[in-house]
Amino acid sequence: MTQPATGAPVQQIVLVGLSGVGKSSVGKALAARLGWPLVDTDDLVTAREGKSPADLIVEQGEPAFREIEQRVIAEAAKQVPAVIATGGGAFQRAANRRSLGERGFICYLDAPATEVARRLRANPDVLVSPLLGQDIEARLEELDRERRPFYQHADLWVPVQGAPDEEAQTVEAAVARIIHAWTAEAAALPGNTRRLDRLGADQPARGPAAVVDTGDQRYPIWVGSGELRRLGDRLRQVGLDGRRVFLISDSHVIEQHGRTVAEALDAAGIPGASYVIPAGEQSKTQRIAAELYAWLAAEKAERRDVIVALGGGVVGDLAGYVAATYLRGMPVVQLPTSMLAMNDAAIGGKVAVDLPQGKNLVGAFHQPTAVISDIDVLRTLPRRSYVEGFAEVIKHALILDPALLKTLEENAANLSSGGPDWDLVAEVVARSSRLKALVVSSDPKEQGLRAILNYGHTIGHGIEQATGYRDYMHGEAVSVGMMGAAKISQAMGLIDQSVVDRQADLLRSFGLPLVAPDVNTTVIMDAMTRDKKVEQGRLRFVLLQGVGHAIVRGDVSGELVSRTVASLVRG
Ligand SMILES: NC(=O)c1ccc[n+]([C@@H]2O[C@H](COP(=O)([O-])OP(=O)(O)OC[C@H]3O[C@@H](n4cnc5c(N)ncnc54)[C@H](O)[C@@H]3O)[C@@H](O)[C@H]2O)c1
Ligand SMILES: [Zn+2]
Repeated sequence: MTQPATGAPVQQIVLVGLSGVGKSSVGKALAARLGWPLVDTDDLVTAREGKSPADLIVEQGEPAFREIEQRVIAEAAKQVPAVIATGGGAFQRAANRRSLGERGFICYLDAPATEVARRLRANPDVLVSPLLGQDIEARLEELDRERRPFYQHADLWVPVQGAPDEEAQTVEAAVARIIHAWTAEAAALPGNTRRLDRLGADQPARGPAAVVDTGDQRYPIWVGSGELRRLGDRLRQVGLDGRRVFLISDSHVIEQHGRTVAEALDAAGIPGASYVIPAGEQSKTQRIAAELYAWLAAEKAERRDVIVALGGGVVGDLAGYVAATYLRGMPVVQLPTSMLAMNDAAIGGKVAVDLPQGKNLVGAFHQPTAVISDIDVLRTLPRRSYVEGFAEVIKHALILDPALLKTLEENAANLSSGGPDWDLVAEVVARSSRLKALVVSSDPKEQGLRAILNYGHTIGHGIEQATGYRDYMHGEAVSVGMMGAAKISQAMGLIDQSVVDRQADLLRSFGLPLVAPDVNTTVIMDAMTRDKKVEQGRLRFVLLQGVGHAIVRGDVSGELVSRTVASLVRG
């Protein structure tokens, strides 16, 4: 097919993703907005064959259905203008990817499998495919794992994660994001032959573990073994080659991993300089930031150069803050080296330094250009830090992902041991990163959904402050805080005791604390009411409504909070 190399974008948008993720509702809204027809390939199959895809699969088997589907897709892909919603499995076939890519701007709608299952159950109109079988959730998980590598090759990744009672807004946000990206990017697609080759390849290359897409910025998160050695390639992949690298790290990390990074940059012929700060939270200050500014000025760093943060959350927050402010903003690449930074701090663009008056009081939102998590570096992380980082992983599982929760429960002993199965660790970090990416993408500036990430943090921060940030590491305090939040959820009738016990068992099996003995309740309560999460004098709590389902509530009584905190500190 010939296409104009430039000019107006071709008027075709293709939606791919698991069945039930919302392709029809987003497709309908999108088609209405653009005034284009909506072509649903499953409906076309039904019209053509007189039988639904579900019936065809049952009667003739999946391979026969896929042949019919391929013919239908080849035809649908010729229609312009059109919004094309495809069946969940269609994008697995190279031939389909190629024909959809000819004219279409391909958008991948993504939500966690649990959320998709919930939507399927809540929507009796949707015909559940026989491929999903009895245990819908488990099967969706499997399909997600199988198909995600293909979906990741779409032109745009669109998270459609949202609160169940805000479905209309979620659809609206997805539509706005798609139209915005299509307008900006679609005109360049037809001339891009490498894209079509990639789409049409039988075994497309493995994509990143996750993508953050805030609507304005899009960046990959790579997770795996040997990532630091691939740093040159990764910088090239995000268009940062040919720049100078300003590496910021701390005294512990540079000793263990500085050399790997230096060698990777050397091998790729990337010039640069490095600055090492003393390890520890006391370096996350404006004074050290000022040292870094002076260093960048002396080195004549330019706005097009790149800051690379190699370290835990302290280095990531500080280097990110410097990158956000120096020359009014430079690109930053995060190379998180602690479990906490990989799963939490490095993703999402919150950067800050501390003031004597409090932690993280001066900061900005500054998204990185890439996050590169090399699992190998975790081998040198002190054990307590390693375990502490799992608190955030467990949090992600509790609020969003029952399947991850199960994986953690089944492998707690292995994962928390001194010699874990590192492939499994990589899988868990990838999955947890994806959850954070999904939430951040839906709500980059923390105006709504992102608040659920504070599960366990209201009481957790109270404990950290009450103990002067000395006795409890962040994840440990959050672990106790999650027990508080679960108990409050139970007292308010949102979950039953079995969920509280399940959470407790999991935290305990990782060696995380459930109580904070000997901390004074009043001091914690005072600290909590001074915290940022207080809105007009009311404490806002993230509570569990079930495993994988969190809600924000502002109506928890002060009496229940202090009773709960008292139960945590008595031990
Ligand atoms: N920006 C965000 O969204 C966000 C989220 C959570 C936490 N944070 C911030 O993150 C910080 C805490 O992060 P952290 O726990 O990573 O602390 P950290 O950066 O101080 O790292 C902990 C310790 O481990 C060492 N270390 C790190 N990686 C290592 C490795 N691979 N091998 C050996 N030693 C290693 C560090 O040198 C340090 O001594 C806090 O300042 C917190 O405010 C930010
Ligand atoms: Zn946290």
